Amino acid sequence: MIQELIIATQNKHKIGEIKPLFPSNIKLIALKDLNFSEDIPETGATLVENALQKARFVYKKFGRNCFADDTGFEISALHGRPGVYSARYAGEGCTPKDNVRKVLLEMKDESQRQARFCTVIALIFDGIEYVFEGEVLGEILCAETGGEGFGYDPIFKPAHSNLSFAQMPLSEKNKISHRARALEKMLEFLKTR
Ligand code: IMP
Repeated sequence: MIQELIIATQNKHKIGEIKPLFPSNIKLIALKDLNFSEDIPETGATLVENALQKARFVYKKFGRNCFADDTGFEISALHGRPGVYSARYAGEGCTPKDNVRKVLLEMKDESQRQARFCTVIALIFDGIEYVFEGEVLGEILCAETGGEGFGYDPIFKPAHSNLSFAQMPLSEKNKISHRARALEKMLEFLKTR
């Protein structure tokens, strides 16, 4: 039987990454397919709170099975920043480029360059909430490298790779990314439903 699942995001990059990972027996429904174009509030203090907030918002509005992802970029030398503030690290209304520039500046003279992406997915399935996490460890590059991907991808090189996320084709990023790992856990869970 085909299951339907709403993806609770307006971020077309995330949808583009997630879509190829879905099996054919799950129909992914974007908010624009439901003629809903408003931003979903995310005011939590943690990734889990934000992911749940977004999924609950959509579940309340449409009453249908849905999931939301919240991602943080955590840099050890910056004590875990940008973390939950990854989207607006350079200030309200900033662009992803502004965020990248701010990180590069703060990391200019830093030799400790470890960082990680962490994704939390909140799923609401038949009214019950579930949470799945995925992470990828790596390091911050000294300059933007590569033209693929989005957000902080040009300055993140995953461990055991010679390429930044922004130098990889999506199929490579999707083998190891934080988002793909969290999604894999959710899809395993859905197989049991
Ligand atoms: P959110 O999950 O939409 O709140 O994402 C927070 C921030 O992290 C945004 O600025 C995104 O651009 C960035 N971000 C999320 N996922 C990724 C990714 O896979 N690569 C690079 N940046 C990301």
